[in-house]
Amino acid sequence: MKTTFGPQRILFPLPTTLVVTGTMENANIVTIAWVTLLTSKPPTLGISVGLKGFSGEAIQKNKNFTVNIATADIMVESDFCGITSGKDIDKFEKTGLTKMPSKIIQSPIITECPLNIECKLVDSSIVGATNHFVGEIVQTHIDTDKLKDKDNPGSIDIDAFNPLVYFSGVREYRTVGEKIGDAYRIGKKLS
Ligand SMILES: Cc1cc2nc3c(=O)[nH]c(=O)nc-3n(C[C@H](O)[C@H](O)[C@H](O)COP(=O)(O)O)c2cc1C
Repeated sequence: MKTTFGPQRILFPLPTTLVVTGTMENANIVTIAWVTLLTSKPPTLGISVGLKGFSGEAIQKNKNFTVNIATADIMVESDFCGITSGKDIDKFEKTGLTKMPSKIIQSPIITECPLNIECKLVDSSIVGATNHFVGEIVQTHIDTDKLKDKDNPGSIDIDAFNPLVYFSGVREYRTVGEKIGDAYRIGKKLS
């Protein structure tokens, strides 16, 4: 049996990311969970940013941003960046998170996040009170101590990575559990 709740308060498991806008001099951090990879050729991702906040304007102005994957170790700092505005405070100073120059774009990355993605703004569209930004991924960074094989960027150790998962609807943070299967392979059991 199921029950229905309509379209409000949608429960959805999401990654917690910290999006950095601006430059090394005036960088701001905003917590964004409404994020997804969009295309692989060219590599793009999309983020959904409310029109009321400080970050949307900064992305429009600078035409670039970085997406930094938050981990359980920085849960408090990540939440803080989602309940305060860059209009009022310097979130790097308040959280103690460290900014580090990107390789290609102006917006910095966050050292404490093990995975960092540099994006150039290629498209945007407003839906309701939200701006949907499409970023072309121009560079990625990963902490070498989170790799099983230091020369293979695909060998990430997810246990060491420990990404912070956010559940909308119930507004809860969780960590991920243990590996239970290989995607694109386990389903072959039924073929
Ligand atoms: C866990 C979490 C996830 C969030 N996800 C989003 C999101 O996907 N899009 C958004 O516009 N705001 C999101 N927010 C709210 C913004 O982070 C918040 O409005 C922030 O204060 C805006 O900061 P700014 O004014 O410095 O841009 C989220 C907040 C939290 C705590």
